[in-house]
Amino acid sequence: MNLTLRIWRQKDTDAAGRFITYPVEGVSPDMSFLEMLDVLNETLTDRGEAPVAFEHDCREGICGSCGFLINGMAHGPRRHTTVCQLHMRFFKDGDSLTLEPWRAQAFPVVRDLVVDRSAFDRIIQAGGYITAPTGSVPEASTILVPKEAADTAMDAAACIGCGACVAACPNAAAMLFTAAKVTHLNALPQGKPERDERTVNMVAAMANEAFGSCANHTECEAACPKGIPLEFIAGLNRDLIRAAFRRHREPLTVVGAAQQPAHEDT
Ligand code: SF4
Ligand code: FES
Repeated sequence: MNLTLRIWRQKDTDAAGRFITYPVEGVSPDMSFLEMLDVLNETLTDRGEAPVAFEHDCREGICGSCGFLINGMAHGPRRHTTVCQLHMRFFKDGDSLTLEPWRAQAFPVVRDLVVDRSAFDRIIQAGGYITAPTGSVPEASTILVPKEAADTAMDAAACIGCGACVAACPNAAAMLFTAAKVTHLNALPQGKPERDERTVNMVAAMANEAFGSCANHTECEAACPKGIPLEFIAGLNRDLIRAAFRRHREPLTVVGAAQQPAHEDT
């Protein structure tokens, strides 16, 4: 297969970026998208040019490092597929593909296709933990976890923090990511003691970053490679209302929280 790639090149956060077009020849349909970029980078390096910077680690869809827009679609055209697991057989000989980084104010471009997603780390730091006694390993059945709660927590824990939901959202909102992280722990008995505090703190951390507000466009769910469902956002809003009532004081101090329950439609 021969392809034409139009790739966003940007030296660093402060530099101006631009698209540069590269032909890539002899691409095997069995290559992954990142392997195809490896081939391009070998050619660029041989020519003495800077290789295209892109993030990756596991290359098997579990670490969340990879991700960029392919023809405007986060992680490319395959549903529930990270760009590292996207294979070239899903493209056609002669295709023209435009590659660009996630476009969101909260994710500044570091270089080429790499963005800084540390805003996600700060949301997790605000509540992505439980309080547990240290010491010897507890008896396995000390805390019984209902099957439904375990399933919900596992589904939420599938979020790999890739940022595709933010990139796909017209408002660059981080509600799906935050909802997944809150749900993961709020669903479990071990996460209940900090449930209200976690919800308020993680939503506040999200509001303090440069993410937009959720307006129910639902593009996040469509773009998510891990199938994180919108219902987790509804659950987050319910937990936020619950936490607000339990705090027994008004107005709620979380930035934007007073508006968020208005999006609740369940
Ligand atoms: S919710 Fe989905 S798209 Fe968003 S960061 Fe998690 S895995 Fe990626
Ligand atoms: S490189 Fe780990 S998910 Fe793609």
